[in-house]
Amino acid sequence: MAQTNTIGVVGSGQMGSGIAQLAAVHGFHVWLLDSDPDALTGATKTISDSIRRLVSKGHLSQAVGTDALGRLRCTSNLEDLCSADFIIEAIVESEDVKKKLFSELDKIVKVSAILASNTSSISITRIASATSRPRQVIGMHFMNPPPIMKLVEIVRGADTSDETFNATKALAERFGKTVVCSQDYSGFIINRILMPMINEAFFTLYTGVATKEDIDTGMKLGTNHPMGPLELADFIGLDVCLSIMKVLHAGLGDSKYAPCPLLVQYVDAGRLGRKRGIGVYNYQKLPEAIKP
Ligand code: NAI
Repeated sequence: MAQTNTIGVVGSGQMGSGIAQLAAVHGFHVWLLDSDPDALTGATKTISDSIRRLVSKGHLSQAVGTDALGRLRCTSNLEDLCSADFIIEAIVESEDVKKKLFSELDKIVKVSAILASNTSSISITRIASATSRPRQVIGMHFMNPPPIMKLVEIVRGADTSDETFNATKALAERFGKTVVCSQDYSGFIINRILMPMINEAFFTLYTGVATKEDIDTGMKLGTNHPMGPLELADFIGLDVCLSIMKVLHAGLGDSKYAPCPLLVQYVDAGRLGRKRGIGVYNYQKLPEAIKP
């Protein structure tokens, strides 16, 4: 397997921008790609602000921070990824959209390049089927936010080779992460367990068992979780949570995974969580005049 010098990150939202930062800080040249130029502008600012904060807190030297920013390039042109040795996809959680992207990447990137997906739940085997290199396709699931969280969940598709697995594990470890390995079943390990809990929190709210504040406080103080499940759902993105529940429901075929109607309604209403300023909670700053 060729050495990894250049990493391509596709999707510059909350996960892609964090993964690009992590890769640049650890010495890799990075191409960060997004189809939406505004998302790239936002990601560049998020990454610079985050690196500045790390430097000011003494977690990173000024030289490492400056070098990292110098190794990061942004683009909306897929062809720019032709120099990448390892691609990490972090676009929208949709099987069709991911397959289309993997099929396009397969035609552009080096024959030796590994194609990894940061998918939360979608079958790696099916994503790999859209390429001519299923042995070099793998799940590399970072936790949110990628620069901070210590885990990477690696998912082997039906045809993923040992070489691809070993190279992906080595890369995650170079990023300073602990690796767990999952077989390719809907939701893998983390979201198979986490998302039904979040969905159940929505049902608890929907059926009037308790207020959102009491659900979150109960789970934080009662089970020692750092965030309540509804707060966490807003942090992840309610659209992402709903997509994952749909994958669990379809893939595992049990009605216990049916998404809560309240979660569906919030997404229909555009209440996607922190990234939109409103989800279960409202994060928008109200003008003084209309503050209650
Ligand atoms: P996001 O909505 O913040 O960002 C997605 C980005 O992908 C957007 O900037 C969008 O413009 C771009 N995009 C969409 N289609 C594209 C395409 N065809 N080509 C290029 N760019 C495209 O989403 P987020 O939260 O960063 O999630 C991304 C992936 O990471 C999803 O698969 C999600 O399931 C997974 N994930 C999300 C976590 C979370 O806590 N939000 C945690 C771990 C994984």
